[in-house]
Amino acid sequence: MMEIRIDKVKLSKLPQTDLTKIPFGRVFTDHMFIMEYKNGSWQNARIEGVRSIPMHPANLTLHYGQSIFEGMKASKNEDGVPLLFRADMHAARMNASAKRMCMPTIDPALFVEAVRQLVSMERDWIPGDEGSALYIRPFMFATDEFLGVAPSESYVFIILTLPVAPYYSHPVKLLASTDYIRAAKGGVGEAKTAGNYAASLLASKEAKQKGFDQVLWLDGRDFKYVQEVGTMNIFFVINDKVITPPTDGAILKGITRDSFLHILKDKGYAVEIRPISMDEVVEAYQNDQLQEVFGAGTAAVAVDVQQIGYKDHLIELNPRKDSLAQLLKKEINGLRSGKIEDRYGWTEPVYEVENV
Ligand code: COI
Repeated sequence: MMEIRIDKVKLSKLPQTDLTKIPFGRVFTDHMFIMEYKNGSWQNARIEGVRSIPMHPANLTLHYGQSIFEGMKASKNEDGVPLLFRADMHAARMNASAKRMCMPTIDPALFVEAVRQLVSMERDWIPGDEGSALYIRPFMFATDEFLGVAPSESYVFIILTLPVAPYYSHPVKLLASTDYIRAAKGGVGEAKTAGNYAASLLASKEAKQKGFDQVLWLDGRDFKYVQEVGTMNIFFVINDKVITPPTDGAILKGITRDSFLHILKDKGYAVEIRPISMDEVVEAYQNDQLQEVFGAGTAAVAVDVQQIGYKDHLIELNPRKDSLAQLLKKEINGLRSGKIEDRYGWTEPVYEVENV
């Protein structure tokens, strides 16, 4: 495997950072991992200070959007050892996104080793509060200077790390959109690519103007079946059954979603992975059978839904303190921080790397 060169910053920003008051996504640690793809291979892997990246105005990413990313987390266990969570699955999903967007894949072993070494260097930045974590953002974008619509021949891959609190600090209100779609079958909905997030912004803005927090996306053909929220996957509890839509190509294959499905099955919950329509959700609500709705994502962890607007319906839920979402959140945070025994082999300790 390629060697990773290390160039440490002289002065850390950590002493000036209050890890207990961190807005999501704005505070970065001192170092980043970076490597370039040129002439058919990844090269020059290194960890160096976070810095701006000069860019030619004809950079292909700026024009045609070849850009993909991941979102992962590391927490510390009781002995202060950082734990990565399902890093191999993030590497695999990054490569699936890369293939869909005609971008080069990365050796999963190098991906995980880069994360490991960066997290090892930035271990002191991992917040200790329950629910907080070091958020890891691997991303890749095109760097050819060319205005033709074609896959770039050069790319940059970077990993940033950020101390974070959970993405949502309260239960959320969702508006099921019947005006806009996030993704349709055959599109790029399953890829973690920047354009999916850009496409969501206008609908989110309009939903916020109407008093909601986020959009609940419906299928791109009939506006009938639930897809996801854009920042997280979605689960419904109806008549004691936990239901989530299948990832059929238009929905992100959430790693938190997958973890929750394993945990729920192990705990003996009845789980159904099947299409669920908004009509079914409304009917269950009207018949007092809709017990709970929650979102699941790496950044969001598990968040209760307190309201869903859909056409002229307003579904009002009263999330309980002991909701299934809260139970799952406790479970996954416990697994991530080593407080709950990892029966799944999802966590990996990051021991201090020599010379780091
Ligand atoms: C994540 O959960 O890691 C994501 O990438 C979602 C993003 C909107 C913060």
